Amino acid sequence: MTSVSPLAASVRVRLQQAIDAALPDAPGCDPQLRRSERADFQVDGLLGAARTLGTAPRVLAQRVVDVLAADAPTGDPLIAGWEVSGPGFVNLTLTDAALLGQAEARLADDRLGVAPWAAPGTTTVLDYSQPNVAKEMHAGHLRSTVIGDALARILAFGGERVVRRNHLGDWGTQFGMLIQFQDEQVEPDVPDEVPDVPDTEGEPGRQPGGLGSLTLLYRAARARFEADPAFAERSRRRVVALQAGDPATVAAWQRMVAESKQHFEAVYRQLDVLLTDQDAVGESHYNPVLPQLCEELEAAGVAVRSNGALCVFFEDVLGPDGEPVPLIVRKRDGGYGYAATDLAAVRERVSVLGADRLLYVVDHRQALHFRMVFETARRAGWLPAHVHAEHLPFGTVTGPDGRPFKTRAGETVRLVDLLEQAVASAGEAVAVREADPRGAARSPGQRSELARQLGIAAVKYADLSTSRARDYAFDAARMVSMTGDTGVYLQYAHARIHSILRKAPADAVARANPDVVLLPSERVLALLLDEFGAALTAAAGSCEPHRLCDYLHRLAVAFSAFYEHGPVLSAPDRATRENRLLLCRLTARTLAQGLELLGLAAPERL
Ligand code: ARG
Repeated sequence: MTSVSPLAASVRVRLQQAIDAALPDAPGCDPQLRRSERADFQVDGLLGAARTLGTAPRVLAQRVVDVLAADAPTGDPLIAGWEVSGPGFVNLTLTDAALLGQAEARLADDRLGVAPWAAPGTTTVLDYSQPNVAKEMHAGHLRSTVIGDALARILAFGGERVVRRNHLGDWGTQFGMLIQFQDEQVEPDVPDEVPDVPDTEGEPGRQPGGLGSLTLLYRAARARFEADPAFAERSRRRVVALQAGDPATVAAWQRMVAESKQHFEAVYRQLDVLLTDQDAVGESHYNPVLPQLCEELEAAGVAVRSNGALCVFFEDVLGPDGEPVPLIVRKRDGGYGYAATDLAAVRERVSVLGADRLLYVVDHRQALHFRMVFETARRAGWLPAHVHAEHLPFGTVTGPDGRPFKTRAGETVRLVDLLEQAVASAGEAVAVREADPRGAARSPGQRSELARQLGIAAVKYADLSTSRARDYAFDAARMVSMTGDTGVYLQYAHARIHSILRKAPADAVARANPDVVLLPSERVLALLLDEFGAALTAAAGSCEPHRLCDYLHRLAVAFSAFYEHGPVLSAPDRATRENRLLLCRLTARTLAQGLELLGLAAPERL
């Protein structure tokens, strides 16, 4: 691994030296560099110094430029041109050698010259996906899964240890009801008590089996629970049996968890995410420590009893009536809620996993819950000041019309149906391309795998490219479009470069020839390629994968302009072709690396 310092950083150092020499009386003048239409970089920041010194900004800019010129009588290896512009900016043009050398150095490195940026030895525990046992995954779980997985990859690339935690909803009073219902269903002596199971199997896209059967069970059990007080009472006794470890009840619960996990794992495989069974540490895992945890909270005075429940109060958390809203750690009936398991998880992640940072990718409606959990854990001493805890909220996925995402029957849309829709749309696009005689001939198996790669990437990219906090509309047809800001557009750009590279003669090398003058479109591409590391640190710093999406999209657009203005294979001469091949190869590698960090497939042929 050889890290390559970005040009922007090198220029800033050179510039700072020039400013210190030209303006010794303006200490602390901090030059800002930005890309500009008129030059490679435009320098801002002299205006402040001008105010302090009471001198016209253009005069100061001229002094800086004079120093640069005096420093480089025989030609500067980095900066080729400078001029004062506007009210007092300095426009800088870099040498072609610097741009090409940078590309060559990055291409030679397996990390594209990007140095790990995280403090060595940092551990982050990242909580994401979190589906619920015996329930279908929905669009909210899609967001958590996809955003969480991209962050897991990006943060790990930055050099930290990332521990993934899939906090499965695998515990709670609903299991008493489900197990009781399941048991009674197979008892032939209570047939007349079984309520009507809604007939959903005729609905399109709804297959029986898998999680479908558990969902039906859930619905039927809930209906009966609400209609039949005697059944409700038996269900409550079943919860007690489950909590007490009654072997038959525990075994039934384990079967339900196993069945749901199989379904989740199938979805994860289809989604190309990193999550494995080892990452699944459900709410039930924390169950044994909850009584002790409550005792400690109470003994420390962090939690108090209120109306029979064990609660934590906060001065600044009040309901609409002005009354304090507590975090309920243990309910009146002695049951533990969601807050208790989250507190136990915080404690374990810090003390056992050695977390320096806790991140939670959970929808924005749970913001208050996490604020209260973190604050409680701080008060209890389980979350020391040096450990950072953050809820990374995300917005809602709506239907294509921007309205709440429901089926015609008013139900939550199932995640598997959404994915199927997108893969089907991608399959249509693949079929159209296949019909083109110039297209790659594929077997039916290859074709359906390609449709999966495109369809899934389309869904993931649509999700990731929207800034986390915003809502977005799920529109499968638009997502798989080849044009616009889509995952397919990036995959297409990547495959297109590979098609160029495949056609290049075997002896054609990708190498820097700085004696050839670069075209503006080549400069734009080279400068953008040099910003890959900055895009990654921006995405990692704010835990916002859309920053990486935005960068990759700009890169694909810049490549397209580059290719339009400067043919590669039919370049006018060998040296030009070598320069262009260099930029092609580096763009392909950067796109592939970026797509991988987002969790999107990067096939070399479309
Ligand atoms: N299972 C919950 C749901 O589906 C989300 C859990 C979020 N994670 C956590 N540590 N509380 O809404």
